[in-house]
Amino acid sequence: MLHHLPSLLALYILTILQVSGALSVPSPVQDAFSPAVSVSLGGVTYVSKGLVGFGRIPSNFTESTGDTLGGIGSAIAIKPGSWKELSNGSFTGTLIVQPDRGFNVETTVDYQARRHELDFVLTPYSDSTPLPFEQAQKTFVLTYKNTVLYFERNNTKTSGLDPSTIRAAMPGVGTNPLADPEMPIASTREPHLSVDAEGLVANVDGTFWTSDEYGPYIYLFSADGHLVQTIQPPAAILPKDKKRNINFTANADPKTGRAANQGFEGLTLDPATSTLYAILQSATIQDGGEDSIYTRLFAYDISSPSTSVPLIGEWVVPLPVSPSGNGKVEATSEIHFVSEGVFLILSRDGNGHGGSGDNIKYKHIDLFSIENATDIHGTDFDSPSTPVAPKGKLSKKIVPATYLSFVDYADTTQLARFGLHNGDPDDNTLLDAKWESLALAPVGDSAPNDFFLFTASDNDFLTTQGVSVGQPYNAGEDVDNQFLVFQVMLPGAAANVKTALELR
Ligand SMILES: *[C@@H]1O[C@H](CO)[C@@H](O)[C@H](O)[C@H]1NC(C)=O
Ligand SMILES: *[C@@H]1O[C@H](CO)[C@@H](O)[C@H](O)[C@H]1NC(C)=O
Ligand SMILES: *[C@@H]1O[C@H](CO)[C@@H](O)[C@H](O)[C@H]1NC(C)=O
Ligand SMILES: *[C@@H]1O[C@H](CO)[C@@H](O)[C@H](O)[C@H]1NC(C)=O
Ligand SMILES: *[C@@H]1O[C@H](CO)[C@@H](O)[C@H](O)[C@H]1NC(C)=O
Repeated sequence: MLHHLPSLLALYILTILQVSGALSVPSPVQDAFSPAVSVSLGGVTYVSKGLVGFGRIPSNFTESTGDTLGGIGSAIAIKPGSWKELSNGSFTGTLIVQPDRGFNVETTVDYQARRHELDFVLTPYSDSTPLPFEQAQKTFVLTYKNTVLYFERNNTKTSGLDPSTIRAAMPGVGTNPLADPEMPIASTREPHLSVDAEGLVANVDGTFWTSDEYGPYIYLFSADGHLVQTIQPPAAILPKDKKRNINFTANADPKTGRAANQGFEGLTLDPATSTLYAILQSATIQDGGEDSIYTRLFAYDISSPSTSVPLIGEWVVPLPVSPSGNGKVEATSEIHFVSEGVFLILSRDGNGHGGSGDNIKYKHIDLFSIENATDIHGTDFDSPSTPVAPKGKLSKKIVPATYLSFVDYADTTQLARFGLHNGDPDDNTLLDAKWESLALAPVGDSAPNDFFLFTASDNDFLTTQGVSVGQPYNAGEDVDNQFLVFQVMLPGAAANVKTALELR
């Protein structure tokens, strides 16, 4: 039995009280968002105002290399300098999207990591009258533009293959002045860096940070996709075997460190302080693994990346538990910085189109605050032998982050406004299963604390007409790439969002 259940129950009751409190507030007749949901965190009120946009890219769409565009929702970012409000009520911009490791339902493939640019036009729809599915897609129209492939040292292409070997740490030399830690490598026959890309931060100078599941590492790439630098997390997070040796494979859980396929899913930047935050998808093995709610958030100072990127903070974040009563912990797929100490967090089940079942039970963009949480960086907890939560029970020395329910993807009233639904039938109007990305842009002067909250699904490259690394495939089903745009009120976020988007 897990020991955290009573406190979680309390959290849910609190949440229900807050939500029902919001329900009693009468909303104006013209308000499409029926009802808006207000929550209070650290004395600040945040409001979830409903869906304003829906977009879709067909599952068989092919990109410039000839491969299926595929699971682009693993990470998204609005390209700095691209966001624009038009005079006719629409907004335009460029979305940078990053898939993970290609079509890997049967086995991992030699898929070179990459990012794509998609131009978009958002025409927010706030009316309560439901739009038919085809019409709804006109609220967020995406146009594929280009692809940048990723390379590591010596112009070698990266790979999606499971890393069966390790390249020893190397000091910086010549054109690569920065040292590399131990690196996950596909195989001795294929000496390519293995990358399972998940998080993305687009810098204003065109360079970008990518977080990965294998290391789990954080990589800085140049604008043209060449590796500049690698951040290695503390020893407690590295996947280690019984003998305390690193083993990067995602085919089996390690003895300590990140669980297999549960790496740095979330990555976000506080542009004001040049702090990069990364979150583990779920608890490390020594912290209870998939049965534990206690995952960890890390902060790195990236103000002078060419010299050093020190770890400056580390906190425990409690993940939500499924309301279905099966005790399943809802792992996180993304975070997004709101204001100092406050983050949006995408936590979800695997149900929906392309997922394990049709009935979505928990798919949320929630909030958490580390204002009162214990900073454990540089302590014994960074060693694999000192868990923060042995067998899932949190150490008494640690105060975790405060976690609060916020935006619900599976709100049936909101979905119906865009021709979408939850549950049967399992067709392309069923909400996708795997949402993994978040981006923010300002609504404008009329509502300075309101933001469009963009999110995209990872369809796992599921299509009946696919191309993977040049080879045709049929995954047996078609799962489109879906995009949703919510409107949210986030007091305190305006300056940070403007800086990140390079807006005046
Ligand atoms: C942190 O603690 C202070 C003092 O108890 C409280 O006022 C504040 O709301 C707390 N913040 C969060 C995010 O819980
Ligand atoms: C994708 O499928 C649609 C519908 O079957 C078809 O019209 C289109 O040509 C296909 N596109 C590609 C790139 O295969
Ligand atoms: C505004 O103009 C853009 C660019 O011409 C167009 O794509 C968009 O659909 C227009 N929006 C409205 C609401 O007419
Ligand atoms: C890159 O090439 C140089 C020269 O051949 C070699 O010394 C170095 O080890 C290579 N680096 C990597 C990471 O393979
Ligand atoms: C890593 O672990 C996998 C799975 O347990 C095992 O097959 C492999 O031999 C290990 N690799 C090394 C280098 O120990």
